[in-house]
Amino acid sequence: MADSQTLPRHVAIIMDGNGRWATMRGLPRSEGHRAGTEAARGVVTRCRELGIRHLTLYTFSKENWGRPADEVKFLFDLLVRFLTRELDTLLTQSIRFQVLGEMADLPLATRKVLAHVIAKTAHCTEMTLNLALNYSGREEILRACRNLVAQGVAPGDVTEERLAAALYTAGQPDPDLIIRTSGEMRLSGYLLWQSAYSEFAFPDTLWPDFTPAELDAVLADYQTRSRRFGLTGDQVAAGR
Ligand code: IPE
Ligand code: IPE
Ligand code: MG
Repeated sequence: MADSQTLPRHVAIIMDGNGRWATMRGLPRSEGHRAGTEAARGVVTRCRELGIRHLTLYTFSKENWGRPADEVKFLFDLLVRFLTRELDTLLTQSIRFQVLGEMADLPLATRKVLAHVIAKTAHCTEMTLNLALNYSGREEILRACRNLVAQGVAPGDVTEERLAAALYTAGQPDPDLIIRTSGEMRLSGYLLWQSAYSEFAFPDTLWPDFTPAELDAVLADYQTRSRRFGLTGDQVAAGR
């Protein structure tokens, strides 16, 4: 990577295309999800090597509950196996594990493993890996509003900072870069508040085929962009 100074602090990925990857090969969709976990492992490893401090992976949306029951069950079983297998690596790599989403609605076995991995990696400091699970950006914002109301925060005291601190991503920077694989160009409810000034990349690659080298290419492209945050290009060049 050319210049580590301009690498994103937070990369968020919508891992899409597992089903199509499997169908193209005449395989059941579950095989696409299984292959997708290998791609996820590769990307986590690469981000850690590069020194990216926050990585968020969209793993299961609130809307994904509407999929066939056997696919939903397979996904949660796969998640349990993945986390059980990866815990040692998370610890040796000092990767803190977090969940964005309502954990209480998840199957008990899943909840147990998630709580275990969150607790075990709580002291890790090199990188934070967030899995967005049972996640909906609108729900997240509503939940934050409800929490502020429940705390008795006065209307005039509802600030951007306070609201951000009531989101699942509290304390983490907004994603600098959001990547969605498989050629789809939509957010599907992902990080709606946090994506206000994110850069986007939409590679055509189906998620199971997304390699660390392809991540490097997306990051290299990100590094060529000029993020202006409402200012003029001249102001940005002058470092204002
Ligand atoms: C993404 O792949 C994984 C999840 C949503 C869990 P998909 O399963 O959405 O794959 P496609 O979009 O059907 O190809
Ligand atoms: C978004 O993908 C959710 C995840 C990747 C986990 P979907 O495949 O569910 O999104 P839509 O339905 O195509 O918008
Ligand atoms: Mg999809």
